[in-house]
Amino acid sequence: MPIVIAIDGTSASGKSTTARRVAKHFGYTYIDTGAMYRTLAWHCLVRQTDPHDEKAVTAVCRKWKSSLVNVDHQVRMLVEGYYPEKEIRTSEASAAVAIIAANTKVRDWMKTLQQSCLQFGDLVMEGRDIGTAIFPDTDFKFYLDAPLAERSKRRWADGVQEDLAKRDHSDSQRASNPLMIALGAMVINNAGLTIEQTSQLIIDEVHRRLEARRY
Ligand code: DC
Repeated sequence: MPIVIAIDGTSASGKSTTARRVAKHFGYTYIDTGAMYRTLAWHCLVRQTDPHDEKAVTAVCRKWKSSLVNVDHQVRMLVEGYYPEKEIRTSEASAAVAIIAANTKVRDWMKTLQQSCLQFGDLVMEGRDIGTAIFPDTDFKFYLDAPLAERSKRRWADGVQEDLAKRDHSDSQRASNPLMIALGAMVINNAGLTIEQTSQLIIDEVHRRLEARRY
C-alpha cells in the first residue's frame, strides 16, 4: 500500500510550498487538490455553467472525461487534454471554486478521483479534507495554520487580494467534509516559521512515524 502524507490547513497557511518540498525530499508525487477543485470551477465557467446550480455542476462532472497525468512527480488535471495552469488562479475562478467545493456530489466525485491517485504510488496530497475524508487511515497527517492577520499579509505579499476570513468561514462551515483537524494529525502553527522550518518539522515527523512502524 503506498504511503500518503496528508497536509490540510487553512488558506495561505503555506500548504502548497511546504507540500512540494516534502514531496521532493521523499521522492513522492505531489498533488494539489485545491487545483483540482479550481480546474472544475474553471471548466464550469468556460461552459457557462452557473456554479450555484448544483444539478448542472454535477452533470458537468458526470459528463467530463477528466484525466490525471503525472509530470515530474506532480499530478495535473487536464480538461480535454489541456492544462489550465494559470487560468484556475483568476479571481473569477477563486470566487466560483468556493461555491462548487460546497456541493456534496462534487465532493463525492472528487473523492473517487483523489483516491485514484494511488495509481501514482507514494503521495503528498494537500487540501482541506485529505486526512479526514480522502485518506482517513493514513498515519501521516498534518494540519497547518497561522493567525488570520499573518495569512492575510502573505496573500498581500503574493499580490492577491482575498477575503481570507470569508474563505475560512466557507471552508470550515460547509456541511460536507468541512475543514477540520484530523484525528492523529500533527498541528503546526507556522507563524514566525520559514517554509524550510515548517517543511523540516513535517519531514522529521514522517521519518519518526516511518521508523515507529518498523517495530
Ligand atoms: O487551496 P486552494 O485555495 O487552491 O483551494 C481552492 C478552494 O477549494 C478553497 O475554497 C477550498 C477548496 N478545497 C476544498 O474544499 N477541499 C480540498 N481538498 C481542497 C480545496
